[in-house]
Amino acid sequence: MRINGSEHDRPPRPGQCLRTYLREEGAYGVKKGCDTGDCGACTVHVDGKPVHSCVYPAFRAADREITTVEGLAADGELHPVQRRFLDAQGFQCGFCTAGLIMTTAALTDDQLTDLPRAFKGNLCRCTGYRAIADAVAGVVNVAEPVAG
Ligand code: FES
Ligand code: FES
Repeated sequence: MRINGSEHDRPPRPGQCLRTYLREEGAYGVKKGCDTGDCGACTVHVDGKPVHSCVYPAFRAADREITTVEGLAADGELHPVQRRFLDAQGFQCGFCTAGLIMTTAALTDDQLTDLPRAFKGNLCRCTGYRAIADAVAGVVNVAEPVAG
C-alpha cells in the first residue's frame, strides 16, 4: 500500500487490522482507542475516505492510498484543518485529535449541512466538544475545499 506517499510492501500478519499495521510502519498519529470501531481515534483516509482503521483489515488496503494525520501536512506546512484545530485549541489531552482532524479533512459538501451526524463516529473522552466545534466551524468557514 501507499502510506502518506511512500510505498510499503511488508505483508500484514493474518488478521491484522490497518491501525496496527500503520503504527508498525511508524505512523504513530494513528491512535489505539476502543478497538471496536466506536471512538474514531484511529481514523485514517483510504483512497480519500475516512475509515476506522481498527476494524479495517490491513489486507484490504493493498494497492490503496492511505493518509494518516502525519501525511496531511505537506512540505512542512500544516494542512488548513490542522491549523484550525491549533488556532482554536480544539483539544485537551489530544488523544482524539488526530481522528477528528482526519474526519474533518474528508468532509463532503453534504456532510457540512449536518455536522453532528458527520462526527458521530468520533468521541472525545475529555468532552471538549465546544473547542472542537469552534475548530470545525472555522474550517467550514475559511477552507474551501477542506478535503486533504
Ligand atoms: Fe478505532 Fe476506537 S480505536 S474506533
Ligand atoms: Fe482528550 Fe479528546 S481531547 S480525548
